[in-house]
This record gives sequence, C-alpha cells and structure tokens, in this order.
Amino acid sequence: MERRTLLGLGIAGIGALALTSQASALQYYPKSSDKKWAVLFATWCGSSRDAGVWISEGLGGIADVYDLRENPDLKKFDNIIIGSSIRSGKVKPEIKQYLEANASWLKDKIRGLYIVCGNGQKPITPEIEKKYVTDQLQAYSSAKDVPSHVFLGRVTAALLDPPIREALLSRGGEYDNLKRSESLAFGQELLKHA
Ligand SMILES: Cc1cc2nc3c(=O)[nH]c(=O)nc-3n(C[C@H](O)[C@H](O)[C@H](O)COP(=O)(O)O)c2cc1C
Repeated sequence: MERRTLLGLGIAGIGALALTSQASALQYYPKSSDKKWAVLFATWCGSSRDAGVWISEGLGGIADVYDLRENPDLKKFDNIIIGSSIRSGKVKPEIKQYLEANASWLKDKIRGLYIVCGNGQKPITPEIEKKYVTDQLQAYSSAKDVPSHVFLGRVTAALLDPPIREALLSRGGEYDNLKRSESLAFGQELLKHA
C-alpha cells in the first residue's frame, strides 16, 4: 500500500486494517443447527472452496466451511466433510498430511468426501473415483465407506503462476465445468445418509 493511501486511512482505517488481518480467510456464516457440521477443503485456486460452500447450502446451510490454511479446530464438530482439488494426479499435499496426522479422531466423524479435478473435461468414471477418493482421501483419513463425489472443476488463467498459465493457454485455455446444482445435490445426499 502506498504511504499516501495509508496516511489517508487515518486512525479508524488503520484499526480496521488490523482487525481485517486477524479475520479468517473465509468465513461462511450458516444457519444455526444442533447438528455440528463442517466442511474442510484444500484448494489452489478456489474451486474446492466454492464446491464446499455449495455443499453446505445443499445441507440447508448448516455446515461451517473452512479452508485448510485457516488451520481450524474441528474437534467440536460431529459431522465433517473433506474435499480437495487435484494437481498432477494428487490431492493437495497439505490435506494428505492433515488427514494422516488427525485420522485417529477424525475418521469416525467423516460423513462425506469430495474431489474437484479437471479430468480433461471428460465425464468422471469409477476409475477416477477410486484414484482420487478411495486411494487418496479415504486411504489417508481411514474414513469409513461414506458418500463421495468427484466434481469437474475449472481453471482461471489469471490465478495461475506465469509458467503454468502459459502451459495452460497453449493447451486449450480456460474452462469452467463446476456446477452449483451438482454440489447442492451432493449436500442433500449427505444429509439423507447422516
Ligand atoms: C497445474 C495444474 C495441474 C492439474 N493437474 C490435474 C490432474 O493431474 N488431473 C486432473 O484431473 N486435473 C488437474 N488439474 C485441474 C484441476 O484439478 C482443476 O482446475 C480444479 O478445478 C482446480 O481446483 P482449485 O480451483 O480448487 O485449485 C490441474 C490444474 C492445474 C492448474
């Protein structure tokens, strides 16, 4: 921020900035519920965040939605949904580490698993479900056989680092296949299974 702009904010403005820096990266304010639901997602560019918020909406807006980077304390929740995006065939390394480190208390609370990936913009097959859900999210968390869904995601060139952006643009460019209706439906399915 330029010095002139900072000075222009005055004391109140600086106070507001300080408060902002303490706030969560994402705070979704759902409806209150006696059922304690949370969505924890790992994302690079936001697709898994959007899917997570829409899944919560499908649940009726009763799940808090957290970015793994916020390092939330999820022990107070009874029902937890885990999601991650895919790069180079793998979930985000940080979610793998988190699931392995916390599996002992987390595994019995997991009610759903989801993945967001590009999959060459082709429909999701049972092999893809196995590769990303069974062999990664479920294996790392030791979760039971809970409902899961693999969503087709999106790529936004402006959010990528320059070398990756150039590679993307040379290979067909941006796409957006993430559907809110699919996320809502998955949220509704989770509620029925809980
Ligand atoms: C550098 C890079 C690597 C990717 N690798 C894969 C991959 O191996 N398999 C796949 O299905 N999708 C892959 N994708 C597509 C992403 O999974 C998809 O864009 C997803 O929506 C990204 O989620 P995010 O916005 O939450 O980060 C890749 C995307 C990028 C930018």
